[in-house]
Amino acid sequence: MDKVLNVRRQDSIAILEIDSPPVNALSHAVRAALVEALDSADHDPALDAAIIACAGRTFVAGSDIREFGKPRRAPLLSDVIDRLDAMSKPVVAALFGTTLGGGLELALGCHYRIAASTTQLGFPEVKLGLIPGAGGTQRLPRAVGPETALTMIVTGEPIAAEAAFAHGLVDELADGDLEEAAIALAQRVAKDNTPRRLRDDTAKLAADGDDRARFDATAQNLTKRARGLKAPRACVDSVRGALDLPFDEGLEHERAIFRELVAGDQSKAQRYVFFAERAAAKVPGLDAKPRRVARVAIIGAGTMGRGIAVAFADAGLAVTLIETDDDALQRGLDAVAAIYAGAAQRGRLTPDEAERRRARIGGAVGLSEAADADLVVEAVFEDFELKRDVLSELAGLTRPDAVLATNTSYLDVDALAAATDRPESVLGMHFFSPANVMRLVEIVRGAKSAPEVLATAITTARRLGKAPVVVGNCNGFVGNRMLRRRSAAAEQALLAGALPHEVDAAMEAFGFPMGPFAVADLAGLDIGWRMRKAQGLKAAIADALCEQGRFGQKSGKGYFRYEPGSRKPERDADVEAIVVEASHRAGIARRALSSDEIVERLLFPMINEGARILEEGIAARPSDIDVIWVNGYGWPVWRGGPIYHADALGLASVRDKLAAMAEASGDEGLAPARLLVRLAEEGRGFGSL
Ligand code: NAI
Repeated sequence: MDKVLNVRRQDSIAILEIDSPPVNALSHAVRAALVEALDSADHDPALDAAIIACAGRTFVAGSDIREFGKPRRAPLLSDVIDRLDAMSKPVVAALFGTTLGGGLELALGCHYRIAASTTQLGFPEVKLGLIPGAGGTQRLPRAVGPETALTMIVTGEPIAAEAAFAHGLVDELADGDLEEAAIALAQRVAKDNTPRRLRDDTAKLAADGDDRARFDATAQNLTKRARGLKAPRACVDSVRGALDLPFDEGLEHERAIFRELVAGDQSKAQRYVFFAERAAAKVPGLDAKPRRVARVAIIGAGTMGRGIAVAFADAGLAVTLIETDDDALQRGLDAVAAIYAGAAQRGRLTPDEAERRRARIGGAVGLSEAADADLVVEAVFEDFELKRDVLSELAGLTRPDAVLATNTSYLDVDALAAATDRPESVLGMHFFSPANVMRLVEIVRGAKSAPEVLATAITTARRLGKAPVVVGNCNGFVGNRMLRRRSAAAEQALLAGALPHEVDAAMEAFGFPMGPFAVADLAGLDIGWRMRKAQGLKAAIADALCEQGRFGQKSGKGYFRYEPGSRKPERDADVEAIVVEASHRAGIARRALSSDEIVERLLFPMINEGARILEEGIAARPSDIDVIWVNGYGWPVWRGGPIYHADALGLASVRDKLAAMAEASGDEGLAPARLLVRLAEEGRGFGSL
């Protein structure tokens, strides 16, 4: 077995250096080596103190996630921390890089913490449907107070070293050499020779009166958007244990909660999505080196261009936002300024940081201003001729190695690329609205896109903190192509007997943040109307709404009615009359649809389209489709994604229900896809591909 721990000595200080690339995760080997080294340091009379340090690029960045959900092998992390508690000599943790999850629990088990000034510290467990399970929810409140601890644990967001120092999570910040500073600290604390254990420190745990009321208010505020997720509430429950129970009982309580979550369906799905996201960024056979991207030009400062500009500026890139005239440009720049002002107002950014980011975005009129860009993202109107002209002009005036990306939602990327003199430079970077918030970017690989161009787009999207997924070129790519099936199914559900608020309620109960009709009202119904007209398609109800000028929120009414200044969808009797009339005209006898039926009617056609997308190789892996739906379309992460969901239901039942839907509706598109039929016959799931 590789050596995962180096033990060195400096005078009377033992330095236990974890060396387990890439991120020093707490694998079984690391845990076992730590317990052994702590034992011998404790028993060695020549030693006065120890330091836990790390080689490589970061202190322990977490537990080894691959071990979750499997039988656990002693020593567990909690055993390592018990050993720290039992030490007769002080132990200092020397933190740098990303001290996360199990890494932070290990650090909290140490008696002193020193951190390089660039360290990030946090508990991201909640994002995997878990809580910190090795004392984190008990020791962090003792270190920083219950409210700060609660915020860190429920949001999963890390804090910077400086904030950690201010809150008492670390005892010292090191600007220079971390190891030297850690040794100096260890020598100093070795003298008084009494390890300071957080388990014994209750000074910050005031648990009654005003403090408790504030704690409860914070808890409520932090969990109000958790929807169906169990983990955020479980975090609160566990931290509350730190206030209400003696330390050891609090630990037991935490462990019981952790055990239940780790064995449950939600965390299993969330861990699946975590690994699916990592896989999605890897393209089989692609080993090209990404090109350097420092300067970006965004063409079009509309809804998407603004958000995309902010996403790049947030990641530290210099952006030029380009429009056709001064007025349109000014509107775009004003919108950017408003986004940053809002972030500063809500305390998400300091005013200085907001201003620094805003200042990275400059504006210009005319495409020639994109000449020195390393990457251009085109976000002009969804119009083929316009996009074709813009891209071919850009290809002529930018450097030959500049990457040209289109943000088109549906158009043929190969046809757009063919209009330029260097199609190898062109691909799609399909952002989602609002582009500075939504994590998904579909990277549309054209038939001629060069490998370095593809690698550059993926790497850049990751730099923006996005979840890139490489997809093939087809109408609507992966997400919108499946969404179109859902929209058609939603219209059919109305015709069959449901009302808009019933459909939305069923989908929200399933876990979507908004129902499909509220989403349609938000996005605007006119877009789909125009597209249907262009393609000679009809949708009786959606068309009737548009003919009456009901375009959604922007006109105060769509599938729902909106009070002036409100975004809350209200039932509208006029719409319900249109729906009933449409059923009547189609000769359909309306009947009540249960929530379960509505959900199946909307989701199964999407899953079927997903199967076709896999057959055609438009998505490389089943899990890529799940990453797309979780990060771009509000699919509840704790249900893993449409493909994962289909596997969980069993493909035979999905196949049978689709066949029945196809039969009842006469819609051939609903007939189960070949791949779905084959897998169901073989008793397999998509996950087995
Ligand atoms: P928009 O209508 O809000 O903005 C388009 C902007 O492009 C306008 O400000 C217009 O003045 C500008 N423009 C037009 N021709 C130009 C030219 N030659 N040079 C410079 N600027 C020019 O449109 P939106 O919604 O931002 O959509 C842009 C693109 O993004 C479309 O391809 C759309 O399909 C796609 N998209 C839209 C999403 C959405 O939710 N709105 C989501 C994902 C993609």
